[in-house]
Amino acid sequence: MLFAVRCRASQRDGRAIRSERERNGRRTLVAGEEILQDFDSVIDAAWWSAKNIPGFLTEHEARFIGLLAAYSASTVRGHIVEIGSFKGRSTIILATVARHYGLPPVVAIDPHNFNSIELQHHRVTEDSSSFAEFESNLKAAGVSDVVEVHRAYSADLATNWNRPIGFLWIDGDHSYRGAKLDFDGFSPYLVDRGLVAFHDALHEFAGPIRVFAEDVLRSDRFGASGFVGSIAWSQHRPGASSRWDSMKKSLARGAERLIPFVSDERPLRGPRKMLYKLNRSRVPRSLPNVSEWIAQLQ
Ligand SMILES: C[S@@+](CC[C@H](N)C(=O)[O-])C[C@H]1O[C@@H](n2cnc3c(N)ncnc32)[C@H](O)[C@@H]1O
Repeated sequence: MLFAVRCRASQRDGRAIRSERERNGRRTLVAGEEILQDFDSVIDAAWWSAKNIPGFLTEHEARFIGLLAAYSASTVRGHIVEIGSFKGRSTIILATVARHYGLPPVVAIDPHNFNSIELQHHRVTEDSSSFAEFESNLKAAGVSDVVEVHRAYSADLATNWNRPIGFLWIDGDHSYRGAKLDFDGFSPYLVDRGLVAFHDALHEFAGPIRVFAEDVLRSDRFGASGFVGSIAWSQHRPGASSRWDSMKKSLARGAERLIPFVSDERPLRGPRKMLYKLNRSRVPRSLPNVSEWIAQLQ
């Protein structure tokens, strides 16, 4: 559903929007704005179901990917694709949102070869797996029927992928090769105004930050972009990205300062770690106000 722009979304909450519509019956919402009516209660419920599941996704980050999923549901309606599910913390957030806004099942891709979080796959083991816990966590959250589970490596699924994607959530192999494969394999299917987000772009991993800087911020296919927590996100706007050039250039400068610290894929220590953290502290990454965030995507 696309709604004509009649007024700015900023400084409005769901109740204000509803009452204005009720009052004059004429106001039209901008794209994505209608989720303001119930997003808070949807994301509260989703976080309640997911918060005790092991994983590194923080509450702020969980709320933000819920917002990305809800926005994509209300504007573009492509699939939500998750690369890297582990025990289901982010899957449950996405699936709860997908169910509420009537999206098709979330496509959740993970080989589930490890029982502890493994961010750079080097080997396959048969005897330890996150799969049983993943399945039982989805069941306990009541979302098994809104998740399309693929126990597979993302690159294998990418080979035959052909469905439109509204929100691509990349949280799998964090090496440069892994993140690049994920982005190259699935981003061609992002619909216009679809969203992509990388987890751990502001943590000490080589892949997410470099792919975000080089393939998203320096690309003319992407528009509004930013960081929230350690998530790097952007909106796919092929042919209309120039409006966000200065925003993206400034973000790219901040992101590119971090790449040399993480590119050898080895843990940082001592002064190098301190310098990395100093550079990272200059990157704005707080949780945005929902209506202001929606307004900047118009
Ligand atoms: C950080 S965890 C994901 C956490 C999860 N999103 C959450 O919110 O709890 C990374 C996951 O990526 C998976 N993974 C690693 N390489 C992958 C690949 N090539 N394709 C799909 N999943 C992969 C790992 O098995 C692991 O479960």
